[in-house]
Amino acid sequence: MNAPHLPVLLEEVLRSFQPLDHGTFVDGTLGYAGHSHALLEQHPHLHLIGIDRDEEALDFSRKRLAAFGDRVTLIRGDFASVVAGMEPDTFVGLLADFGVSSLQLDKRDRGFSFESETLDMRMDTRSALTAHTVVNTYSQAELTRIFADYGEIRHATRLADALITERTRHPIDTARQLSTLAKKVLPARGKIHPATLMFQAIRIEVNDELGQIDALLDALEAMRPSGAIISLITFHSLEDRRVKQRFRQWAQSCICDPHALRCTCGNTHSLGTIATRKPVVAQPEELQSNPRSRSAKLRTFVFKESHAQT
Ligand SMILES: C[S@@+](CC[C@H](N)C(=O)[O-])C[C@H]1O[C@@H](n2cnc3c(N)ncnc32)[C@H](O)[C@@H]1O
Repeated sequence: MNAPHLPVLLEEVLRSFQPLDHGTFVDGTLGYAGHSHALLEQHPHLHLIGIDRDEEALDFSRKRLAAFGDRVTLIRGDFASVVAGMEPDTFVGLLADFGVSSLQLDKRDRGFSFESETLDMRMDTRSALTAHTVVNTYSQAELTRIFADYGEIRHATRLADALITERTRHPIDTARQLSTLAKKVLPARGKIHPATLMFQAIRIEVNDELGQIDALLDALEAMRPSGAIISLITFHSLEDRRVKQRFRQWAQSCICDPHALRCTCGNTHSLGTIATRKPVVAQPEELQSNPRSRSAKLRTFVFKESHAQT
């Protein structure tokens, strides 16, 4: 079955889960099952729980994974609430490959691409908030906030002002109108389309992408799944910063004030170890064959076995 999405860092992801033998594996961003298919093939005793918010992706993966029979359970939902609702120690590994899939980006009716004739951007078409609502109803202050915080756009205020002016003339109904506006207002940055960061910001808002990552990390922190391997792939600094900081915090054994003269906390607070001292990035061959891999960073954390936890 030809998947409409090439999994990034596939070899590196498989390597990170190499020690797994049996138990349940969670793929929080199943997509087109590129990673999950390879994992199920490589680990014949693993059971998969595959989660995605996107019905189209789940329908595709249901067929793609059919040959694995009852080794596969698929759930439509967001990974943060599905994982938070799981019993502790029900899984031995978890993967999340954040962001949107190539199919979501390429399909014009989803409204993620610059040429789309719609303005939607929802990964889960059941959710109430669409890009159309954000663009046509958010206040100047709210638009500036999302452009600055989620797009890290230097000219956030200028862009918000231009958007408000444009929409007072006529509603903005298509992603194409939006990207044309960004081209007019924002300076070009090399080969990068000026609308790139604006679209990223709106997409993050519509899908609460950063809130989802924080909530997933919170759920894992509360759960401390014994011995579980957690591999997370991020695509921009807002995502990567969150993962990096939380993994560092989890690995810390001493939680005393850094200025304290001696340790008084017992030095037993580590939840496990960071398996990737530096983020793992794509090799030149993959960079050539899959442009999405350019910004991908993989970080892995391994939780302690619970009998070893204090
Ligand atoms: C980059 S793709 C994953 C591709 C997948 N690893 C593969 O090999 O085909 C990300 C997928 O995660 C889904 N997704 C993103 N955020 C999600 C969330 N918070 N909860 C559930 N699914 C999410 C998207 O709908 C998309 O299908």
